[in-house]
Amino acid sequence: MSRTIPLNREAMAYHNPVMEAELLESLAPLEDGLIVDATFGGGGHSRAILRGLPSARIVAIDRDSDVEVHVPKDPRICFVRGKFSQLIEILGCRNTNGLTADGSDSDFGGIAAVVFDLGVSSHQLDTPSRGFSFRQRGPLDMRMSSDAPLTADVIVNTWPESELERVIRSYGEEPNAVRISREIIAARPITDTIQLADVIASSVPAAVRRRRHPARRTFQAFRIAVNSELEEIQMGLDAAIEVLRPGGRIAVMAYHSLEDRIVRQRFARRTAGCDCPPDLPICVCGHTAQLRSLTSRGITPSSQEIEANPRARSARLRVVERIAP
Ligand SMILES: C[S@@+](CC[C@H](N)C(=O)[O-])C[C@H]1O[C@@H](n2cnc3c(N)ncnc32)[C@H](O)[C@@H]1O
Repeated sequence: MSRTIPLNREAMAYHNPVMEAELLESLAPLEDGLIVDATFGGGGHSRAILRGLPSARIVAIDRDSDVEVHVPKDPRICFVRGKFSQLIEILGCRNTNGLTADGSDSDFGGIAAVVFDLGVSSHQLDTPSRGFSFRQRGPLDMRMSSDAPLTADVIVNTWPESELERVIRSYGEEPNAVRISREIIAARPITDTIQLADVIASSVPAAVRRRRHPARRTFQAFRIAVNSELEEIQMGLDAAIEVLRPGGRIAVMAYHSLEDRIVRQRFARRTAGCDCPPDLPICVCGHTAQLRSLTSRGITPSSQEIEANPRARSARLRVVERIAP
């Protein structure tokens, strides 16, 4: 029987959780385990887990201090502010209220699942003072954690043209990276998000302006650079694999191709076993599979969910299971 966890409407306004039912289904066999919600946000996924798996306990992590007001007052969950790349240190530290596998500093043997819901929350995107939105005027900030040293302002107003171009091309997959970086340099100093969006819009061909917002890819690129998002995913996934118990699961929701590619490649490397040439009579590489994929092509949201929450549109959920060593 599930306990009643109030649906906290304020937290839903903060962020509407994506593929809640699909996530719960993938975690269902873990019942009473210790689950890490590595991207707490508005706590929608944590609340769903507490409702659907009443014997589970949760260590919730987020790098943004704005989320703390949404942590449910429930002894089964504790919140730690930090980056998921620091998962191992976080799980070992005492301030998780003994919610480590056995309350000790070093034994992580009992982690049943780690959940990652990547990217930014609706709250972060929709709060102009955070500087993530190209539609609302705000400072050039884009930090998920307000105490991080690098801001979008530093990138936009001080980085050399070649670095801007590299970031816009590789993190934004923006075909007009050369023009955009040149125009940013020419327009310096750029003081806010709307000025930046206008500079970008005026530097791309008219045909591009008629499609999706021309600043979308460049803003994504700067956000990824400010928060070292891709490095965070790599380190977070590696740490999650390390702390997982046999039979434990990792569930990751990615929202664009760069995120999903890292997830796919990270998992592929650990799901593959021996990679010796087939003509060798015995294995000499020593590689054994650590993970089994449970969602070969990933799960995408239903059309009803996308209609109700268009931000779910690009989500893809991948789930893997730790194989006994
Ligand atoms: C898409 S939201 C998560 C929403 C959440 N699942 C819910 O249901 O409300 C992503 C959250 O992850 C956090 N985040 C992103 N990267 C992080 C990282 N490397 N370490 C910790 N938190 C991170 C963001 O601050 C944001 O609050």
